[in-house]
Amino acid sequence: MDIAVDYAGIKLKNPIVGASGTFGYGLTYEKFFDLSLIGGFCTKGLSLKPRAGNPTPRICETPSGMLNAIGLQNVGLDKFTSQKIPKLRKIDTAVIANFFGETVEEYIELAGKLDAIDGVHGLEMNISCPNVEKGGAAFGTEIKTTETVVKACRAVVKNKPLIVKLSPNVTDISEFARVCEASGADGLSVINTLVGMAIDIYRRKPVLANVTGGLSGPAIRPVAVRMVWQCYKAVRIPLFGIGGIASGRDVVEFIMAGATAVQVGTMNFVSPDIVPRLAAELPELLSKLGAGSVAELVGAAHHD
Ligand SMILES: Cc1cc2nc3c(=O)[nH]c(=O)nc-3n(C[C@H](O)[C@H](O)[C@H](O)COP(=O)(O)O)c2cc1C
Repeated sequence: MDIAVDYAGIKLKNPIVGASGTFGYGLTYEKFFDLSLIGGFCTKGLSLKPRAGNPTPRICETPSGMLNAIGLQNVGLDKFTSQKIPKLRKIDTAVIANFFGETVEEYIELAGKLDAIDGVHGLEMNISCPNVEKGGAAFGTEIKTTETVVKACRAVVKNKPLIVKLSPNVTDISEFARVCEASGADGLSVINTLVGMAIDIYRRKPVLANVTGGLSGPAIRPVAVRMVWQCYKAVRIPLFGIGGIASGRDVVEFIMAGATAVQVGTMNFVSPDIVPRLAAELPELLSKLGAGSVAELVGAAHHD
């Protein structure tokens, strides 16, 4: 069975993609499997300059999930371009560059530069990061800033699909989905992590040095499925479903909610070969469900 999908013009040989921040720059996973087996992966969030991230502790395990406050540690655009891209170009898989800025100008500069890199197949904007000009509220939690930053990047991204990764830390995600579509986004990634925290009762202190962190893993899956469902109703552009995917069943659940393809994050830390394994299992699962392709199941739970 052919399980290839076209996601906003990005050809994915299968609909399972490694999620940003859990897949490094892809190359780390070469010791576990052949990267050409996977649909693709999203890089760790890239900034113009390298970043060391937050002080530790910056991850902690929670029931069916984890909290992280990595603080967007990454190698920076120059090192990504000179050291990672030449190796990635030799691998037959889709490379989606996840990126962020602290100001609209930084977003614009990165978007323009990433758009020009041969070997990058798509851009994924992380808008869940603090806007330093607006006192640190995340870009993606205010409609107006979301519109401004997406429009600004759209104006400079001319060659590649521009995907916006939505924050779930909002009251009505469909408003954000609509404004991104109207501002020129080619696709949406749904969802990023939910803000959470944990307290070490013996130290009487928050576990994370940053106090709060992003909750991910199977614990968030029902929230993510609900948000994919809402976004599918709100927009026509394709969706990546993300949040706690751990099995083939979960992949199909997101597709039926409206996702064209999915991303797997936290579970890579449990089973480093989960992305190719889910891809390999998908054809049998689809035929068990009486489906002839992935495409015919997209949004299936919405139809009578
Ligand atoms: C350790 C860690 C780092 C992450 N870093 C990023 C990042 O740099 N950019 C981004 O857009 N999302 C980042 N995410 C969010 C994931 O890509 C994903 O949206 C989220 O974890 C939900 O999926 P999951 O439940 O399968 O992990 C990170 C998640 C984790 C766990």
